[in-house]
Amino acid sequence: MTGGDPRAAGGDDGSGVADLVAGVRHRLAAEGGPVTGRRVSAALRESGRVLGSAALAELDGVVRAEIVGAGPLQPLLDDPAVTDVLVNGPRDVWVEREGRLERAAVDLGDAERVRGLAVRLAAAAGQRLDDARPAADARLPDGTRLHAVLPPVADGCTLLSLRVVRHRPFALEDLVRDGTVPPGVDGVLRGLVAGRANLLVSGATGTGKTTLLSTLLSLADPGERIVCVEEAGELAPRHPHVVRLLARRPNVEGAGGVDLGDLVRESLRMRPDRVVLGECRGAEVREVLSALNTGHDGGCTTVHANAATDVPARLEALGALAGLSREALAAQAASALHAVVHLRRDGGRRRVAEIATVARDPERGTLVVRTALAAAPDGGVTSGPGWADLARRAGHRGEAGGSRGPVGHVPGSTAVRGARG
Ligand SMILES: Nc1ncnc2c1ncn2[C@@H]1O[C@H](COP(=O)(O)OP(=O)(O)OP(=O)(O)O)[C@@H](O)[C@H]1O
Ligand SMILES: [Mg+2]
Repeated sequence: MTGGDPRAAGGDDGSGVADLVAGVRHRLAAEGGPVTGRRVSAALRESGRVLGSAALAELDGVVRAEIVGAGPLQPLLDDPAVTDVLVNGPRDVWVEREGRLERAAVDLGDAERVRGLAVRLAAAAGQRLDDARPAADARLPDGTRLHAVLPPVADGCTLLSLRVVRHRPFALEDLVRDGTVPPGVDGVLRGLVAGRANLLVSGATGTGKTTLLSTLLSLADPGERIVCVEEAGELAPRHPHVVRLLARRPNVEGAGGVDLGDLVRESLRMRPDRVVLGECRGAEVREVLSALNTGHDGGCTTVHANAATDVPARLEALGALAGLSREALAAQAASALHAVVHLRRDGGRRRVAEIATVARDPERGTLVVRTALAAAPDGGVTSGPGWADLARRAGHRGEAGGSRGPVGHVPGSTAVRGARG
């Protein structure tokens, strides 16, 4: 019990922490009732097997992590700089820290223990993970998103992908300060929210779409009621009136599922001032576009797309899943969506790269996006052909409308003044 990294114990040093953990588990099971961190600590103290308050304090975190946390991965998840933890094998663990993947010095023992950890985490998230259902996509009680796949579907060892959802309250000013939102563009975003524009936040995986959407929803009038429809409750707007509907997968017999499309329809009967779909990645595109086309302004959703110009193709692909033709999708999307806010990740930095408007190509009837504002990595912003429409929607007045010249990247430009006024 003394010496060495207590986290390594329970692996090879089986007689150490593993025994302690087993003892505490046994105690808790005998007592019954929900297992909480506090009860784990109490059981550890009462076991009388750890001598000295320093050792107790050190082991407390480890035993808690083993029983109610993510075991040896917990310290990584607790690191504020880490956004993702990826397990490919017992000694093949990676973390994404400040936008870069790096190998973590963690030893999970053997493949059986990795599997055990995955099964336990899935169970903590209320999901079954076994040979009959070898993949789980779930949300842990602390909000962390868990994806796990068991072999043989996963080739080799159980694969775990954990995304830390930090309910870090990013105010728009924070995002301007850290370079995510170029100066001047914040005013346009404020204007779009205040003007109850329907927004589509696009970007590749992990570019910060959900985070930006939370920030934008925090700007909504406190008198409004926001209804969020999500797969996992990730959106964390700082707003006094938010309710959430979470989709549910069908059980093993295929019954009891409630999908995002169903929930968007439900949300319309809940007196929403804003209908928000956390992420549109399937046939629910039909319901969300139809909601935004039937007088529910101020709605928002996010979509995966590598560039703003890819958004039409992405929406068409989703529309096809819902049986919408290209033309029907274009007609729906062009009238439903007022702006696309596109995010990019350059190296470790996430940033708003473009704001575009959507329209229907008059000749071909297909959906087109028109750049309204394009932001360079250095924060310089230029306007494009969609600017006049966007400026109107964002409550801007004045000379920048329709120009191709820079709208400025310093406060005081037309873009900033108009939106705040
Ligand atoms: N502007 C930012 N500054 C610092 N960290 C950020 C920023 N935006 C997002 N993050 C962090 O990056 C991670 C991914 O963010 P987020 O979940 O918003 O991305 P996403 O595009 O919605 O991802 P996904 O494609 O998985 O839905 C989160 O841990 C989040 O806290
Ligand atoms: Mg997201």
